[in-house]
Amino acid sequence: MKALVTGVAGFVGSHLAATLLAERRAVVGVDCFTDYYPRPVKEANLSTLIGQPGFQFVEARLQEADLGILLDGVTHVFHLAAQAGVRKSWGADFAVYTSNNIEATQKLLEASVGHPLERFVYASSSSVYGDHVALPMREDAYLQPLSPYGVSKLAAEHLASLYWENHGVPAVSVRYFTVYGPRQRPDMGFHRFFRAALEGLPVTVYGDGEQTRDFTFVADAVAATRAAGLIGRPGGVYNVGGGSRVTVNQVLDLIGRVSGRPIEIRRASPQKGDVRHTYADTTKARDELGFNPLVKLEEGLRQQFQWQQAAPRQV
Ligand code: UGA
Repeated sequence: MKALVTGVAGFVGSHLAATLLAERRAVVGVDCFTDYYPRPVKEANLSTLIGQPGFQFVEARLQEADLGILLDGVTHVFHLAAQAGVRKSWGADFAVYTSNNIEATQKLLEASVGHPLERFVYASSSSVYGDHVALPMREDAYLQPLSPYGVSKLAAEHLASLYWENHGVPAVSVRYFTVYGPRQRPDMGFHRFFRAALEGLPVTVYGDGEQTRDFTFVADAVAATRAAGLIGRPGGVYNVGGGSRVTVNQVLDLIGRVSGRPIEIRRASPQKGDVRHTYADTTKARDELGFNPLVKLEEGLRQQFQWQQAAPRQV
């Protein structure tokens, strides 16, 4: 395998690259350090990879990069680069989402046409489902995203399927359900909650806190992504949910316990784009990818807390 990992300086991308390198696979990592959160955070993620045998880093924007050179000799693409963030995707910011999520994916798929790839794994999202699906969410549900972000992730997922059906690019999509763990992005819930606990500041809870998420520990998300790259069915779509479905209020109790600090809660109004519940039916991923999430929520939270305690402030 020679893997191309896009978004390699990001949360999941850096962990995936580390896993592939530990298996002595060659990895070309690409990242353009978008300014959504501070560059030093991404550089810290990347520093664990730089210098490792078999790793090559390229700083580039996929929209402008010479993708032919990036794909040279590559057998597996793991396309994780994206503009993340559900609640920020309204208004003028949507242009960033269409460019980084839709346009960049289309360019990479187009460049992959005729290239002898074994797999092209696309990192999709539970946000493609929206609020009007039966729980647990099945891959073949009728998809009605609730956020512009979800629309952009779904559009790119459709592009991946189209490039498989029309051009034979062996695209496989994995729909991540709210991933957490060490290196979680600073805009995400758990990261903010632990930071607030460490700094003795209140946390802001959107709505009544009774919304649920099927939280997924990062190592389990990486295992599913790796398996999708090795044995995923081209044209296939897989839910990757950790099986730790709880309410935000329950999470805050756990975070108080894990951090040993009292959590002061401030309530804010529900955020447009936030779905009420996510809950993955992982039957397909279990059957076809051998997916078996191993890390329970409390254990995963402990690992994230240890990382946040040790990490410098901006990380
Ligand atoms: C996360 C990621 O940020 C998306 O990139 C990803 O695509 C998505 O998961 C997914 O599963 O598809 P989200 O579920 O909103 O999105 O993750 P968090 O930011 O960790 O939020 C989790 C819950 O905590 C949400 O209900 C949110 O409203 C709540 N929250 C978050 C708060 O109440 N307060 C905060 O300060 C942050």
